Amino acid sequence: MRKLFLAVAAAALVLAPVATTAQSPMVIKFSHVVANDTPKGKGALKFKELAEKYTDGKVKVEVYPNSTLYKDKEEIEALQLGSVHMLAPSTSKFAPLGVKEFEALDLPWLFKDEDTYANAMKGTIGKWLLQKLEAKGISGLAFWDNGFHMVSANRPLRKPSDFEGLKFRISGSKVADQYLRLAGAIPQIMAFSEVYQALQTGVVDGCENTASNYLTQKFHEVQKDITVSYHAHLQYAVIVNSKFWAGLPANIRGQLEKAMAEATDYTNSIARQENMDALAEIKKSGKTTLHYLTDDERKAWQTAMQPTYKWAKGRVGQEVLDFLAKELDVKMN
Ligand code: LMR
Repeated sequence: MRKLFLAVAAAALVLAPVATTAQSPMVIKFSHVVANDTPKGKGALKFKELAEKYTDGKVKVEVYPNSTLYKDKEEIEALQLGSVHMLAPSTSKFAPLGVKEFEALDLPWLFKDEDTYANAMKGTIGKWLLQKLEAKGISGLAFWDNGFHMVSANRPLRKPSDFEGLKFRISGSKVADQYLRLAGAIPQIMAFSEVYQALQTGVVDGCENTASNYLTQKFHEVQKDITVSYHAHLQYAVIVNSKFWAGLPANIRGQLEKAMAEATDYTNSIARQENMDALAEIKKSGKTTLHYLTDDERKAWQTAMQPTYKWAKGRVGQEVLDFLAKELDVKMN
């Protein structure tokens, strides 16, 4: 029933003539699942500001943060149907579409640091990945950064064996499923909007995310121990419904592309600081204990999770792994 409703709404939306008169601006709905006060949240608001400015008010961007319009899984389906125009999901969310290559970006300790990540995504691998979405009726406009993941539970996670038996919320990546499983955890996919309550009530014992997401969702208030492990990276692809985007008047699309390019630079320039500030805020709150791995402890995690690389071949394919190995100058097994 819901599908049928979405399909009808979508058909109406995609087929609706683009109204660009001064009286009725064309509306672009931009939905996402995180808070406004995060790198992605701020990026969406920056895009709104610039898009409305550059199109002289011919376009109005409505930003829906915090899953107010759609939850994780629903939002991509809604975009394909045309019920929403723009999203910025974490890249692991494309696998259910059959586009699994993005999950390679979730490999543990793949990117040495933030600069390595940023340079890689600006290069050919970034374009190659976005291109994969075209066959699904989706156009990828940009990569937006968040940062590196931390992990948490109600016990210190310092050794791989500390994960043993813990139910761990993951956002959907099978690569994350694999590395947490190798550490002994029992991963479980769950929508972002449901994580706080699941942690609070013990439906799951732990999770992974960036500092800005922990702070704004208050995960740190229901997790006694957070390990600042920075074991994997969280990034987003800003995407639009291809048909909608291609159907825009060329001058409007051009202005929106300019707005997106600038909003992307802005988002990617603030992400690191936003996460550093969020981590400082979490620490100041006194509501959780932060743990930092020693070199030996980190090596033990890396050893435990290393088989993920070999396993990933069967999941994401050799091509993307070879591509990344070359771009990042790393070994993939
Ligand atoms: C998650 O589900 O944990 C993330 O994808 C949320 C987000 O978009 O940052």
